[in-house]
Amino acid sequence: MGYGEGVAHAEDPTLVSGGNYIKEGEDFSESVCLIFSPSEKDGVGNLARCLELFKENGVNLMHIESRSSARLENKYEFMVECEPGGNLGEAVEKLKQTASYFTVISRNHINNRGTVPWFPRRIRELDRFADHILSYGSELDADHPGFTDPVYRARRKQLADLAYNYKHGQPLPHIDYTKEEIDTWGKVFRQLTELYPTHACKEFNHVFPLLIENCGYREDNIPQLEDISNFLKDSTGFMLRPVTGLLSSRDFLAGLAFRVFHSTQYIRHASTPYYTPEPDVCHELLGHVPLFADQEFAQFSQEIGLASLGAPDDYVEKLATCYWFTVEFGLCRQGDQVKAYGAGLLSSFGELEYCLSDKPVLKEFDPPKTALQKYPITEYQPIYYVAESFEDAKEKIIKYSQTIPRQFGVCYKPYTQSVEIIDSKPQIQNIISGISCQLNILSDAIKKL
Ligand SMILES: [Fe+2]
Repeated sequence: MGYGEGVAHAEDPTLVSGGNYIKEGEDFSESVCLIFSPSEKDGVGNLARCLELFKENGVNLMHIESRSSARLENKYEFMVECEPGGNLGEAVEKLKQTASYFTVISRNHINNRGTVPWFPRRIRELDRFADHILSYGSELDADHPGFTDPVYRARRKQLADLAYNYKHGQPLPHIDYTKEEIDTWGKVFRQLTELYPTHACKEFNHVFPLLIENCGYREDNIPQLEDISNFLKDSTGFMLRPVTGLLSSRDFLAGLAFRVFHSTQYIRHASTPYYTPEPDVCHELLGHVPLFADQEFAQFSQEIGLASLGAPDDYVEKLATCYWFTVEFGLCRQGDQVKAYGAGLLSSFGELEYCLSDKPVLKEFDPPKTALQKYPITEYQPIYYVAESFEDAKEKIIKYSQTIPRQFGVCYKPYTQSVEIIDSKPQIQNIISGISCQLNILSDAIKKL
């Protein structure tokens, strides 16, 4: 059970069944989340007493949720999100003394040693990333091909604003692309589709015709994110959401944990159809999208995301490097051949030819080693890592994620699109009983074969 299914707590009249929101603040960038179970002897009003501690110490609360505890029998658990002001340290210390379970999750973890870096636990919390982008999509560098083009800049601003205002659950913005934009797409599409049959992995070539059939992938049409997202949802549960600009590795990988891929919607400048200094709609739709419709690849991508949740910064960077050498620039073995599956390759005619030539060095994908590999971002990769298969890559990433120092496990719950923090025996017992129920269904099915 995730927080989204919280049960109303009788002693607080503002918590009503089915609606576990009290108040949602605007700025979550520095907020601190506390999860706790009051330990007093079941006294009525113990939540009120806990909340009083925040008031006494001048701490503003932004959001409160409750649920029955998965860790302690017949207990409630509360998640309180606080602004960092006031005497938060004092409130936390006092709360710890009275709580039977207590954990702190903080985005501002550098200054809070011993706390877990903040991460979303429900899919709708991905909305918060819009405020944390590293650069807004319309802020172009001086050497960007569109830097001196006011019409292009205005278009970038328009699409960035649409993405900024997007909220989970809304239809993805429909873009009426101009003739010039469609022409640019057409040039890229025509060139790349010539190489796919010989250079792309078989999974990619299996999905691509389905995108032509179902999502309007054509030389004279830039497909809409909404149509693609619906197609992916039906295939693997993956979804797209528009992104305003560059996200941090931590936020971007966290999206993958929920099977959400952050996608740009603008296109490269018309003057350089075969070059873009940043991801654009050609890179996302031609390079990334097809493989998110593949079960094994989808699972592999999600595993990288789940491993990143609450991981220390240096491990998030290591996972981002593994992501770079797989999802972006991965090669894979298929029979006695090597094929491309990375989006950076499948969206670049030049590098797609180059990566399968005898020029680059190929190494076996091995997360502990791959995670430490340095790489250039503005030129072709001198080294590529080759995966045996997506399944093998997934198993290796799961094994690698077990070496990440993290005091809890995470479990994705697809029914509620939420992540559960696993740090108690009752939770593990619950999961095991779910698995044994599944095993019963399987053994019954086997008997009928
Ligand atoms: Fe990418």
